[in-house]
Amino acid sequence: MKILITGTNGQVGHALVGVLGKYEVISVNRQQCDLINLDQIEYMIDSYQPDLIINPAAYTNVDSAEDEAELAFRINADAPKLMAKKAREYNIPFIHFSTDFVFDGKKKGSYSEGDFTNPLGVYGASKLAGEEFIQEVGGQAYIFRTSWVYSKIGSNFYSTMMRLSQEKNEIKVVSDQIGVPTSSVFIAAQIQKIIPKLNQAQPGIFHLVPNGNCSWYEFAKEIIVKTNPVFDINKIYPIKAEQYPSKAKRPLNSILENIRIKKAFMLEFEDWQSELKKI
Ligand SMILES: NC(=O)c1ccc[n+]([C@@H]2O[C@H](COP(=O)([O-])OP(=O)(O)OC[C@H]3O[C@@H](n4cnc5c(N)ncnc54)[C@H](OP(=O)(O)O)[C@@H]3O)[C@@H](O)[C@H]2O)c1
Repeated sequence: MKILITGTNGQVGHALVGVLGKYEVISVNRQQCDLINLDQIEYMIDSYQPDLIINPAAYTNVDSAEDEAELAFRINADAPKLMAKKAREYNIPFIHFSTDFVFDGKKKGSYSEGDFTNPLGVYGASKLAGEEFIQEVGGQAYIFRTSWVYSKIGSNFYSTMMRLSQEKNEIKVVSDQIGVPTSSVFIAAQIQKIIPKLNQAQPGIFHLVPNGNCSWYEFAKEIIVKTNPVFDINKIYPIKAEQYPSKAKRPLNSILENIRIKKAFMLEFEDWQSELKKI
């Protein structure tokens, strides 16, 4: 089976290439195919003739998206729409990733796949448009919403906390935003298990996160305890999101419920703390 994977310099793309070695993987980064160029996407799919397309590439800078809406929509909505169309044309499955930021965070409790979406910023709106376009196209399209992605590569919350714990004596972290930390390794491991089972489940949207949830503050404490035992854990202070201003608004609650994916693909997940230990 020939699998075309985009965004392979990114967290999820890189992890997917790492676990899908038993397949013929065509790894495509921005230099090989810039997703702002729809002709290039079409040419790439036509020439490689993959049996499965996986699209972890995305415009992921939540704050910059506020100033670059056109670019964000092109990469997060127009590009996956075309991939979905090509996948339908070739009658092959398409795996796409989306985000907890499609929700406004006002719900009490966790979000299930069918819950009302209402993105607070341009990034979330562009990802939601991507989901809607893909679903309009139809075909065998599987959209996996995930959240708070971290990994050993690139810049993310995990690497930032490790660095700050080396550089600072005290760290302030937002404690009133809650969600589910999800490692790229966890995502890749589940996709690896899902690929052979794709035809067992109806296409649609699935929440791909481990069990449990926490605040950024709790996540920071867990990261630092595990990676820098010398740092005084009492010097991590909780602050409110409003004390850490950012250009884009973020949902206060973005806990994704993962019951549907576990049932559809017969998967068992561990909690986010166990997944962090594996990193
Ligand atoms: N990160 C999170 O916290 C988070 C949370 C929820 C959902 N998600 C979703 O999960 C998926 C994977 O995210 P991630 O964390 O792996 O993102 P990431 O580390 O930022 O990687 C995204 C990749 O997309 C590539 N890319 C961006 N613009 C491109 C373009 N014009 N043409 C081709 N490639 C382009 C980037 O290329 P360069 O390396 O060249 O920049 C990068 O390799 C995305 O769909 C994202 O929306 C992420």
